[in-house]
Amino acid sequence: MPANQKSLAQAIRERRSTPSFTGEPIPSSDLRQILDAGLHAPSGYNMQPWRFVVVQHAEQRKRLRAASYNQAKVEEASAVIVACGDRDGWRKDLDEMLRMGRAGGMPESYAAQAENSVPAYLSGFSELQMTGWLNKQVMLAFTSMMLMAEVLGYDTAPMEGFEQQKVCETLKLPLSYWVVSLLAIGHLRGPDKFDGGRFAMTHTVFGEEFGKPLK
Ligand SMILES: Cc1cc2nc3c(=O)[nH]c(=O)nc-3n(C[C@H](O)[C@H](O)[C@H](O)COP(=O)(O)O)c2cc1C
Repeated sequence: MPANQKSLAQAIRERRSTPSFTGEPIPSSDLRQILDAGLHAPSGYNMQPWRFVVVQHAEQRKRLRAASYNQAKVEEASAVIVACGDRDGWRKDLDEMLRMGRAGGMPESYAAQAENSVPAYLSGFSELQMTGWLNKQVMLAFTSMMLMAEVLGYDTAPMEGFEQQKVCETLKLPLSYWVVSLLAIGHLRGPDKFDGGRFAMTHTVFGEEFGKPLK
C-alpha cells in the first residue's frame, strides 16, 4: 500500500462528512481512479444503470450550489460527482451487457434467461419502483467512489440536499435521468465535523429473525 494511502478499514473508520473544503484541483488520474472504483460495483443483472456527471469548473460549481440549497461545500470542493440513474438505461444497454458477459464467460443459458427477464422485470416498474431500484444500484457505485477517495487521502461529503429539477436543468440531463446524490471530494479546510456516533449493534442488528440478538 503506498505511504499516502489509507487502508479500507482505516478509511471507513476515519471518514467524516466534510463540512468545508480547501478547493485545490484534484489530479485527473486520482479522479479517474475514484470513478473507476464506482464503475466496478455490482448491479442488478449487471445493468449498471448509473451515470455520473463530474463538476469541476468554478462557474458550474456555483450553478450547482444554487441548485443545492446554497450548500457552500458544493462550490468549495475540488470536484462534485453528481450520481444519477438512467430509467431507460436497460433498454439501450441490454445488448452490450450480454455481449460483455459472453466475452467474460457468461453461459448461454444465463444470457437467454437475462435477455427475457430484464425487460420483463424492469418494464413493469412503476415510477416509484424504478426510482427505488435506481437508488439501490447507484448508491453502491457512489459508496465505492466515496471510500476509494478516502483511501487515496481525500475528504468527502455525500449530499442529498438538492432540488431534483434544478440539478437536472443545470447539468442538462436527459429526461430519463434521476439524480440520486452528490459526492463532494477535496481536502478538509478547518476543523472536521463532530463524530455523531452510531447506534449500538443491539439496536440495529438481529440474528436469524427480527428482535433476536445476534449471538
Ligand atoms: C445520502 C446522504 C445524503 C446527505 N446529505 C447531506 C447534505 O445534503 N448536507 C450535509 O451537510 N450533509 C449531508 N449528509 C451527511 C450526513 O449528515 C452525515 O453522513 C451524518 O450526519 C453522519 O456523519 P458522518 O458522515 O460524518 O459520519 C448526507 C449523508 C448521506 C449518506
